[in-house]
Amino acid sequence: MDKKTVRDIDLKGKKVFVRCDFNVPMDENQNITDNNRIVAALPTIKYLLENNCKIVLASHLGRPKGEFKKEFSLEPVAKELSKLLGVDVIMAKDVIGEDAKKKASELKEGEILLLENVRFHKEETENDPEFSKELASMAEIFVNDAFGTAHRAHSSTTGIASYLPAVSGFLIEKELKFLGNAVNNPERPFVAILGGAKVSDKIGVIDSLIEKVDTLIIGGGMAYTFFKAMGYEVGNSICEMDKLELAKDLMKKAKEKGVKLMLPVDTKIGKEFKADTESKVVKYNEIPEGWEGFDIGEESIKEFKEELENAKTVIWNGPLGLFEFEQFAKGTNEIAEKLANIDATTIIGGGDSAAAVKKAGLQDKITHVSTGGGASLEFLEGKKLPGIEALMDK
Ligand code: 3PG
Repeated sequence: MDKKTVRDIDLKGKKVFVRCDFNVPMDENQNITDNNRIVAALPTIKYLLENNCKIVLASHLGRPKGEFKKEFSLEPVAKELSKLLGVDVIMAKDVIGEDAKKKASELKEGEILLLENVRFHKEETENDPEFSKELASMAEIFVNDAFGTAHRAHSSTTGIASYLPAVSGFLIEKELKFLGNAVNNPERPFVAILGGAKVSDKIGVIDSLIEKVDTLIIGGGMAYTFFKAMGYEVGNSICEMDKLELAKDLMKKAKEKGVKLMLPVDTKIGKEFKADTESKVVKYNEIPEGWEGFDIGEESIKEFKEELENAKTVIWNGPLGLFEFEQFAKGTNEIAEKLANIDATTIIGGGDSAAAVKKAGLQDKITHVSTGGGASLEFLEGKKLPGIEALMDK
């Protein structure tokens, strides 16, 4: 990594502003339902504690659009952090207001303050220089550890870096190591599995990975656009009619590059979009009218697993079916299970596929589960992430 990290700067006893991505899912009673992103931030926070820093933590939660909304408060995160660290995390009532400023100025070595949701100010997402300056005024050093938000050029991810020495934390370093190595220096065979509903969401990634992988496996809702492009009927399956040419181009490109492009050979279809709908498995080119494809079929699972058997690097982004419904979760679950049991570097590119792996209880058997959804996608597309670009070079 060519950017400075917390190891490259003297931060002993200093006041440090740390941008984390604590954008975690919560239920209607504001109970955190998945604390992964909080756990992933701990190594950097612990390192700063060991170095007697005065720690000011900041994050967004959801998209409150510039105003205070109770349901977007970071208070539950402060409680979870206190529990995980075994240290009391002080909660500020605001972001750059009187309370936050007072509490930040009174911080002692080894104390942690969490600011309220930075997106309670619209200036955050506008990357407003005055707002960035206000944030910077609370500390001496900026540490960005919010990999999940590194694709956003906001005040607390990039703007603030103009006013303070800026380095990365351990999470960003780790994410770049795994995602970067996989893309730039993969042990081969290198297989990418791309799923999710829409081709349009994944065009950039497919385009970029086609240049690098040996095999590209496509599943999920996306596959039906490819079937349609091949001239088959897809019933009521999700299909982007304006992306048929693009799907054809991608298939052509894979052929030209010598990339093995694998699409499902069968699909599990249902009558309606509901958990207990009537379902059956059919060949990919035999989807009857009135039916909708919700998962890959048994034969596809078998073929994909065989392909993964010898892989040495695997990147997976996007579920292979409607895994939220048990009867359509098999494709996603079996591929997750396979990844957990092969001798390869396995990387899950955040978002829904990370949730699926977690739901299957397999995340500890995966080499790296990224904390970034949009951020890991943009990284895999080969885009520069502004939250990382803003940091000091080594
Ligand atoms: C995410 O969940 O992908 C990040 O926290 C970024 O959130 P955003 O899409 O609201 O910027």
